[in-house]
Amino acid sequence: MRVLLGVTGGIAAYKAALVLRLLKEDGHDVRVIPTAASLNFVGRATWEALSGHPAPTDTFEDVPSVQHVRLGQRADAVVVAPVTADFLAQMAAGRATDLLGNALLATEAPVLVCPAMHTEMWNDPSVVANVETLRSRGVTVLEPAVGRLTGPDSGPGRLPDPEVIVAALYDTVGAGSSGTSLGGAIGGANGDNRATNGSWGDLEGAHVLISAGGTREPIDAVRYLGNRSSGHQGLALAEAARERGATVTVVAANVTLPLGEGIERVDVETAAELAEAVRSRAATADIVIMAAAVADYRVAEVASTKLKKEGESGLTLELVQTEDILAGLAASKRPGQVVVGFAAETGDAAGTVLEHGAAKARRKGADLLVVNEVGESKGFGTPDNTVTMLDAAGEPVAQASGTKLAVAHAVLDGIGRLQDTAS
Ligand code: CTP
Repeated sequence: MRVLLGVTGGIAAYKAALVLRLLKEDGHDVRVIPTAASLNFVGRATWEALSGHPAPTDTFEDVPSVQHVRLGQRADAVVVAPVTADFLAQMAAGRATDLLGNALLATEAPVLVCPAMHTEMWNDPSVVANVETLRSRGVTVLEPAVGRLTGPDSGPGRLPDPEVIVAALYDTVGAGSSGTSLGGAIGGANGDNRATNGSWGDLEGAHVLISAGGTREPIDAVRYLGNRSSGHQGLALAEAARERGATVTVVAANVTLPLGEGIERVDVETAAELAEAVRSRAATADIVIMAAAVADYRVAEVASTKLKKEGESGLTLELVQTEDILAGLAASKRPGQVVVGFAAETGDAAGTVLEHGAAKARRKGADLLVVNEVGESKGFGTPDNTVTMLDAAGEPVAQASGTKLAVAHAVLDGIGRLQDTAS
């Protein structure tokens, strides 16, 4: 699981390095946010070397990746050890003074805090009240150990041993989690404390190519055949891949929405333009995701001027099939490359949404087909999405539901599992 370790400014900060070590040994991917004060006790280099990730302190570091929200949102569990009396007060007040404060407000993951301070401070009515407030909000506050404190004094206030903190974290997560994949394949706290997947920067160094939006096939100088795809899901995938460290290119078919900073954008209109844009870039991509709604037919002969209404009779347009870009990409993919398709389906007399999806998965040959039901108020233009991921044989491998960004991360998790199995 992805663990966010917050370290605040107390002498016991050195013990957090051992907490980090134990979590890493258990296979978890840990990101550390030290507060500025804590760097007086343990330097940033220690956190970066032990975690293998940058250890930012300030809200204004790496702004394009919006990490003040991302680190909290992506965490499966948060532990703050040690937590000072001052930081407890900040948390109880809900203040976002620094990056750690922001991350704690942005997270929905279980939170464990491990106070360490002198006994008098721990017993001070303000600290007692803050602890009560945090507990009433569902934060787990670990009781400090009793023993020798920084000076000659001793009593309650010591940071418990790293093993105790890690065990308390597993208890905290175990009490408030649920898996989302089929067959228990998804990581997180499902009784087993070892990580199975889901890392913070798992796409660092990867090039992800995503098609988004919906193509338009011209009929004449002013009209076209189009579809209702807004491009939201494709853009959410781009955002999620960027958050996870990938270099991202979006081939955007008639998308009016802006793209996040640092994402390359190639605008296209027709299926043929989209095919050309994707094919020419697919050779260097590690992951290709066809989230665009591509027209299956184009008009055989496009009129160069505006067609005029003639007489009383109707108009027959001759349509010819466009090429199946996804099937072509899947057939020509290079070793290690992952090709993903999307299928917006409606159930009918011939089969359910999943039955149609399974047949399509086998027909297209993509490594993963993300199937969602569309129709009135489902799929197109709605903020949320519910999908089932099928493998190339049409077997369901995972499900996801939630905002389009959450679904995007679940799809990237699904891709990660495919890559883990392949390697
Ligand atoms: N797709 C594609 N090229 C096409 C049509 C679709 O690459 N000419 C891709 C889409 O981007 C999507 C997947 O194939 O990833 C499924 O799209 P869909 O329109 O559901 O598939 P079709 O083959 O067109 O099937 P249907 O007969 O249901 O329309």
